[in-house]
Amino acid sequence: MDIVIVPNASDVATYAADVVAARIAGTPDTVLGVATGSSPVGIYRELARRRAEGALDLAHLTCFALDEYVGLAPEHPRSYAAYLDREIVRPFGLDREQVRVPDASRADLDEAAEEYEQAIAAAGGIDLQILGIGTNGHIGFNEPISSLSSRTRVTALSAQTRADNARFFDRPDDVPTHCLTQGLGTILEAGRLLLVAQGERKAAAVAAAVEGPVAARCPASVLQFHPRATLVLDEAAASGLT
Ligand code: F6R
Repeated sequence: MDIVIVPNASDVATYAADVVAARIAGTPDTVLGVATGSSPVGIYRELARRRAEGALDLAHLTCFALDEYVGLAPEHPRSYAAYLDREIVRPFGLDREQVRVPDASRADLDEAAEEYEQAIAAAGGIDLQILGIGTNGHIGFNEPISSLSSRTRVTALSAQTRADNARFFDRPDDVPTHCLTQGLGTILEAGRLLLVAQGERKAAAVAAAVEGPVAARCPASVLQFHPRATLVLDEAAASGLT
C-alpha cells in the first residue's frame, strides 16, 4: 500500500488527478471506477478542467459507479446517477451509456446486482478504481462487518453513514436506508485502487485501514490485500497514523 500525504484537500485532488490522467493518456479506453460523495469531486473537476484546456482526452472512457441508493429514481438530484451526470457525464463530454450505475430502481435488485457484475466483466474489469472512505471505514457502501469477499448486492446503510450523508438531503429521514453497492471482492479485482481522504473526520478510519488488522470491522482494511493500492491523504486525514 502506498501512502501519499500532501498538505491540503486541493493537493489531494491534483495528485489523484495526475494519477488518473497519466493512466488515461497511456490508455484512452480506460475503465474507470468512480466513487461519488464529496471526496472525489476535486479530482473530477480537475480532470474536466484539463479536458476543457485541451490537455486531456476523456472521450473513450467507460465508467462504473461504486454504488447507488435504493429508492431514489435516477432523476432524483441526490441519486448517484444524477451526481455522475453533473460531475462526469457532462463535464467529461461523455454519452450517458459510457457511465454505468447499478440499477437500484429495478424490482429485482438481486438480478440488477448480478447484471452489474456481468457488465463490469464484459468491459474487461475496472482498470482504476477511485474510492473515498466513510468515517466508519466503509468503502463503497460496504459497511462494517461486510464480508471481505462480498460481491455487488443490496445492503443496508448503517446509522452512522445515514447521519454522515444527511448533509446532502433536506431532512435526515430522507436519506435512503438501502443501496446497491459493489462488494469488497468486486473492488479488490480492480487493477489499481486510488483512495482519497481529506479532513480530520476521516483520520480514525484511515488509521484503522492502514495500521489495523485486515478485518470486517474496517472494510477499507482490505486495501492491504491489494498489490496496487494508493492512498492520497491530506495532513488532517493522515493525522491518526503513527
Ligand atoms: C460513494 C461511496 C462512499 C463514499 C464515502 C465517503 O460512492 O461509495 O464510500 O466514498 O461515504 O463519502 P464522502 O466523500 O462524501 O465523505
